[in-house]
Amino acid sequence: MTAHIIDGIALSKQLRADVAKRATALRARGVVPGLAVVLVGENPASQVYVRNKVKACEDSGLHSVLERYPATLSEAELLARVDALNRDPAIHGILVQLPLPAHIDAHKVIEAISPAKDVDGFHVASAGALMVGQPGFWPCTPYGCMKMLESINYDLKGKHAVVIGRSNIVGKPMALMLLQKNATVTICHSGTQNLKALTLQADVVVAAVGKRNVLTADMVKPGAVVIDVGMNRNDEGKLCGDVDFDGVKEVAGWITPVPGGVGPMTITMLLVNTLEAAERG
Ligand code: GUN
Repeated sequence: MTAHIIDGIALSKQLRADVAKRATALRARGVVPGLAVVLVGENPASQVYVRNKVKACEDSGLHSVLERYPATLSEAELLARVDALNRDPAIHGILVQLPLPAHIDAHKVIEAISPAKDVDGFHVASAGALMVGQPGFWPCTPYGCMKMLESINYDLKGKHAVVIGRSNIVGKPMALMLLQKNATVTICHSGTQNLKALTLQADVVVAAVGKRNVLTADMVKPGAVVIDVGMNRNDEGKLCGDVDFDGVKEVAGWITPVPGGVGPMTITMLLVNTLEAAERG
């Protein structure tokens, strides 16, 4: 058996076309949806991510502002910038790229962002809203994973979903989103005993650890849906996920590739959140 591929690039194209259409409608009403991206320091990976986010905005008809600051920027100066963006009516979404330099308290900065503009969904108010099922911005990566499940019309009700990883950005919100769709959810992490026994029971596995080959073919129930959030490099320097794709695709029913899976969906959901922030006004 060879799994069906869930194509994150094709799905992103569809969703981004819808964003562009809604952005045009907003513009006709005199509202230009705007995202501010703040980058502090010279982290090479962050520079690539930020460039991709700004380009995606341009391609979908969203206004974006990139603010770049040296790593020497003080916490007080960054908080002052966030405050100014909170009050700027041309800006509907604010994203402060992480990681921040060590002298800046990232938590304090995220909490300074207005929840109405928290398109990353990292604010405690956004996390709380997700937890209690109230409207709020969902973190882009797990939100993108949910859209991938939706794209194959997968009904999560009563299914066993196993999330590997418990980060605030992916694992924990992912588990809550799956739970909201009535899946039975297990969260696994570095302290989990006998991971394989759990993943073998899973109808859906989301791997979000940041380590190669966390999920191999012998750990997957035939026909399961496998979503790979990992972004790693293999020995040849090629991009790869947390899942042993070549092995697992022979067992799973559906699988997301790396690259071309969850990655593009993350940026797409940032555009969706920004557009929604602008629509909510
Ligand atoms: N660093 C890595 N991924 C992300 C993300 O999705 N948002 C922000 N703000 N920083 C990141």
